[in-house]
Amino acid sequence: MNSSNEIVIRVARQADVARIAELYRAYMRRGFLIECAPWLIKDFHGAMIDRKDIICLVAENSRGQVEGFITAAEDGRRFHKSFMASRAPILAWKLLPVVLKAAFWKKLMRVLRPSAKEEARDYNLPRAEWLNLTVEAKYQGTGVSEMLFRSMVEEFRHRASDGFHFIVSADNLRSLGFCQKMGCVVVGEIVSEGVPFKLLAYNMRPNTICG
Ligand SMILES: CC(C)(COP(=O)(O)OP(=O)(O)OC[C@H]1O[C@@H](n2cnc3c(N)ncnc32)[C@H](O)[C@@H]1OP(=O)(O)O)[C@@H](O)C(=O)NCCC(=O)NCCS
Repeated sequence: MNSSNEIVIRVARQADVARIAELYRAYMRRGFLIECAPWLIKDFHGAMIDRKDIICLVAENSRGQVEGFITAAEDGRRFHKSFMASRAPILAWKLLPVVLKAAFWKKLMRVLRPSAKEEARDYNLPRAEWLNLTVEAKYQGTGVSEMLFRSMVEEFRHRASDGFHFIVSADNLRSLGFCQKMGCVVVGEIVSEGVPFKLLAYNMRPNTICG
């Protein structure tokens, strides 16, 4: 039986990138990287680990295997923009056949999500953004996700953050159940390419977020 007792949470290292990418590919169903540029997943997470404004933590078991990870950004849009800009030549080259299709631009816009940011402003939400949490299936429901989430909150607290916002597919009921259990609040809904997403927030300073 797998349990959270044998798990430690630590800061991710470059040596973890391949395993993080493996988990990302296995569990992410939507998003620009999965749908348009899966070959960029390793590079993307490698770039995150190198940045001070990104939180990237992993859950490691007693055999040294990474079984989950969590990522968050002090400013998610700034990170996405600078990463995409730094990879512009390779993106242009590799994506030339799909760049000509409208669906590509819609997906890219969803990553940069000006509409979500406007909503965030409307709701007076914190700038910080929780980007991802993925745990290997055999460790789901064991408390490992909770350990990763609480460690991320602690890290945001060290950075004097007032909280963070994020979006989740409206049909990812397990993820929504988890987020609400952890104290996150649904503050709105965004529809992108006909797919509904919930906009959620976690407030570390009461009375600053409209829920
Ligand atoms: C999302 C994820 C991190 C949650 O971690 P987890 O260990 O599975 O979560 P938990 O079991 O602690 O909590 C899930 C909660 O949602 C509830 N839940 C599960 N399915 C549900 C459903 N269909 N409807 C409503 N609630 C549901 C569970 O009952 C549980 O609450 P409880 O502990 O009070 O019973 C994990 O499932 C995962 O890695 N999924 C794949 C990747 C993913 O979707 N990531 C989120 C995108 S950011």
